[in-house]
Amino acid sequence: MPVLEKIRARFEAEKPFKGLSVAMCIHLEMKTAVLGQTFQAGGAAVAITGSNPLSTQDDVAAALAKSGVNVYAWKGVTPEEHHSNLLHVLSNNPHVLIDDGGELSVTVHTEKKELLGHVLGACEETTTGVHRYRAMEKDGVLKYPVIAVNDAFTKYLFDSQHGTGQSALEGIMRATNLLIAGKTIVVAGYGWVGRGIALRLKGLGANVIVTEVDPVRALEAAMEGYRVMRMKEATRVGDFFVTATGCRDIITREHFAEMKDGAILANAGHFDVEIDVKSLREDAAEVRVARQNVQEYKMKDGKRLYLLAEGRLVNLAAADGHPAEVMDMSFANQALSAEYVVKRKGELQPKVYPVPLGIDKEIARLWLESHNMKIDAITDAQAKYLTSWH
Ligand SMILES: NC(=O)c1ccc[n+]([C@@H]2O[C@H](COP(=O)([O-])OP(=O)(O)OC[C@H]3O[C@@H](n4cnc5c(N)ncnc54)[C@H](O)[C@@H]3O)[C@@H](O)[C@H]2O)c1
Repeated sequence: MPVLEKIRARFEAEKPFKGLSVAMCIHLEMKTAVLGQTFQAGGAAVAITGSNPLSTQDDVAAALAKSGVNVYAWKGVTPEEHHSNLLHVLSNNPHVLIDDGGELSVTVHTEKKELLGHVLGACEETTTGVHRYRAMEKDGVLKYPVIAVNDAFTKYLFDSQHGTGQSALEGIMRATNLLIAGKTIVVAGYGWVGRGIALRLKGLGANVIVTEVDPVRALEAAMEGYRVMRMKEATRVGDFFVTATGCRDIITREHFAEMKDGAILANAGHFDVEIDVKSLREDAAEVRVARQNVQEYKMKDGKRLYLLAEGRLVNLAAADGHPAEVMDMSFANQALSAEYVVKRKGELQPKVYPVPLGIDKEIARLWLESHNMKIDAITDAQAKYLTSWH
């Protein structure tokens, strides 16, 4: 992660977080550990918990704890343990929150209100979290500034699209060990995550079907060569289903009933609300673990449906998350956005802010430089041409 490494070297010298506490609720895997250590290098006391019950890598958690981070995370936490871990992280009196799904801030605004006034601001990693923060701003309850890290070009264009595109497939392939080529695979949602997944599936020879609710995105999918249809029709033909909408109830009871024997269900969206696992369990006559991260649901009519990673983020629960090259950019955005919040203490409103364009471009520049890629510079004559109307 050369970009983060450069930032870490500067943080080490400048100590922008000296005397401050950073709380993180984010998938606790290797790349996240590097971000935690970057804050430490900048002088922060760091506390962390995972943002998903299945995405914590216990060896990484142990290594971080050894390096002085307060870690409240292990793989397979129950919902109650997850909640208690959130409260523990917040008991470290954080000044800056690094959130992935908005959970730290929702907890601060509902159960740990004594921290309001103490927290300088938060940085949000994912689309679903940004939706929640915007809803808090709209309802007039948000009490500190939030930087929408997810919306930086150097985040969603690479992490959401290419990172999830690769790692979701890796999760599905590791879990099932089945061939993608020739399969009919339904991708729900053609946003940044969905298009990344669809593109990789197509590259591996799948017949990809896209379901959407947004006509422009559906049109994009159609022009990229995918079949577009409603989930209702797609359920009858799909061999695999991958949800990536950030919305709830994408695959429900009515769809399970129509699916083919052996259909495989996976989710790449942030929360486990896209596939209605509760109904699946209720409608099944028998449930068994077929392979690691694969549950077989034998339905009452004898049909078998296979759910990967309990319907939770398949790329983090059944694989190692995104490759380091993309997390380098995402976490560089986190590190620099957190520094921005601290440096602008008292200047920002309780609103959702974009990552400043200067930070975004600097990360792209550093990444290219780190990978020995050079780009041309615009000349004065070109700059004049582009800004003139004559
Ligand atoms: N697995 C990961 O590592 C990872 C990485 C990045 C983002 N995410 C999560 O993935 C989800 C999607 O993120 P994104 O950045 O692609 O969001 P996005 O907003 O760019 O795309 C979501 C798409 O889903 C469509 N959609 C919404 N409701 C739908 C419905 N009922 N049926 C069909 N389509 C529907 C929307 O129209 C939109 O095009 C979010 O929950 C996000 O937090 C996961």
